[in-house]
Amino acid sequence: MEPMSANKGQSFYVTTPIFYVNDAPHIGHAYTEVAADVLARWHRQRGERSFLLTGTDEHGEKILRTAAANKVSPRQWADKLVEEAWLPLLETIDIQNQDFIRTTEPRHEKNVQKFLQHLYDTGFIYRGSYEGNYCVGCEEYKTDADLIDGEGAFAGQPVCAIHSKPVEKLQETNYFFKLSEYADKLLAFYEANPKFIQPDSARNEVMSFVRRGLEDLSISRSKEKFDWGIDIPWDDSHITYVWFDALLNYITAIGYGEDEEKFASLWPASVQVVGKDILRFHAVIWPAMLMAAGIEPPKQVFGHGWLLVGGEKMSKSKLTGIAPSQITDTFGSDAFRYYFMKAIAFGQDGSFSWEDLSARYQAELANGLGNLASRSIAMIHRYFDGVLPAASEFTDEDKKVQQIATDAVAAADQAISDVAIQDALTAIWTLVDELNNYITVQEPWVLAKDESKRDRLATVLNTTAEGLRVLAVLMNSITPKAAAKLWSALGAGLGSLDAQPIGDAGRWGQLPAGAALAELEPLFPRIETDATEAK
Ligand code: MSP
Repeated sequence: MEPMSANKGQSFYVTTPIFYVNDAPHIGHAYTEVAADVLARWHRQRGERSFLLTGTDEHGEKILRTAAANKVSPRQWADKLVEEAWLPLLETIDIQNQDFIRTTEPRHEKNVQKFLQHLYDTGFIYRGSYEGNYCVGCEEYKTDADLIDGEGAFAGQPVCAIHSKPVEKLQETNYFFKLSEYADKLLAFYEANPKFIQPDSARNEVMSFVRRGLEDLSISRSKEKFDWGIDIPWDDSHITYVWFDALLNYITAIGYGEDEEKFASLWPASVQVVGKDILRFHAVIWPAMLMAAGIEPPKQVFGHGWLLVGGEKMSKSKLTGIAPSQITDTFGSDAFRYYFMKAIAFGQDGSFSWEDLSARYQAELANGLGNLASRSIAMIHRYFDGVLPAASEFTDEDKKVQQIATDAVAAADQAISDVAIQDALTAIWTLVDELNNYITVQEPWVLAKDESKRDRLATVLNTTAEGLRVLAVLMNSITPKAAAKLWSALGAGLGSLDAQPIGDAGRWGQLPAGAALAELEPLFPRIETDATEAK
């Protein structure tokens, strides 16, 4: 196969991990989805061709066992979970994905086989035997360093550090990928591409792991053990190791093996968002697989932190999972999206708490942004019959608002380029805070009492309306429902909100004076329920 040449146009391809269908989603999974969706929407708002891929990982022993325990076939189980849990999740948290791939689809299975055959034909895959400790929860062989002493029912046994469950000793003859040959090549690649693994803490961790040397990777399992997977094309007594199959979703979904033009237009991916628990698969095995096939690695793999409960990674298998709808039913999808992007630095672990969510909803969304929008627009209705007044002369205070808006747009845009979503929100909030402060200082309700201050009142309300225009554009990726409401009250004269480029958002004076504004629907309604009852 020819090395793929990247189409450098302005395409932005972002991926989430594909999720195991052994269980329903919790807020940890939703967190990954929201971050990727915010990046995709923001880049689209920049005018780039933005493509978000997500999907489900349906093969492997873990799924097979879950299906068996529920007395259905793995296919039936996967169909049920996709229909009843994973696709609805996208609605629940308002994800605007361009595709959803399931690893049981023919477009995936066929092209995984193509990829394998190619690596086999070019000598990167060989037959050998292996003995090791396998964790079905991780679907991975573990080294001794990955194991810890068990507790409770597993006291005295080594257990997987992630799942706290015993590993299984496996001895098999299977096929191996020559991963060991890639240690030096990967290190050279990381050196040449310092942003390939982000954040830096993740990059350092991966680099020291690779410096210790790599072992070849078993990429098949004998069908004598179980057979829920993709057949090895040259040996139908084996199926493909689930991670080797799963990683390839990122290219089979965009046409690898059958639509070269589409593939070339999107690959290499701009950012692959993954949890830090699966960083090594994405930052070590995945680029090595691609290099072996003569395909460029992605531009960046970003390893985010974990949502913790009681100091531990939230997980369904440890029964600490919270369903996303538990939050959105009370607070709505916008608040879910805002909260997780603002409260946790992307790349670090964070603890979720109902109290923090409720406090931020009230202070930052309802009182901060929501109230700013409602009182500004209400005053235009009250004092100017809902017709946007023209600004006349700008004072230094008006110019300060304009400057803060321009700076906020630039800083937020840069932060998104750096995948620092929390910083983008901090930058956007400088404008929210400034506008609230501006209204307090300018006291338009006082100006309104004095007919001779009519021009000044017009300028003040024009300034707040322009500020809200900027905020609608900036918040469209993060709180799309609230941004759309704000836009329908404000932006009718400017066309659709999606068509407002980020790069132009800071340019002052875009709202046409004389345009009729609509009433504003409440952006972040008052929540009657006590935060602790929301559980
Ligand atoms: N199927 C594999 C990924 C294959 S990608 C080629 C898998 N699936 S998973 O469903 O277990 O997890 C998917 C993602 O959800 C991971 O990135 C994982 O880190 C993330 N999260 C699962 N629990 C999480 C938290 N408690 N906190 C944050 N993210 C979490 O791994």
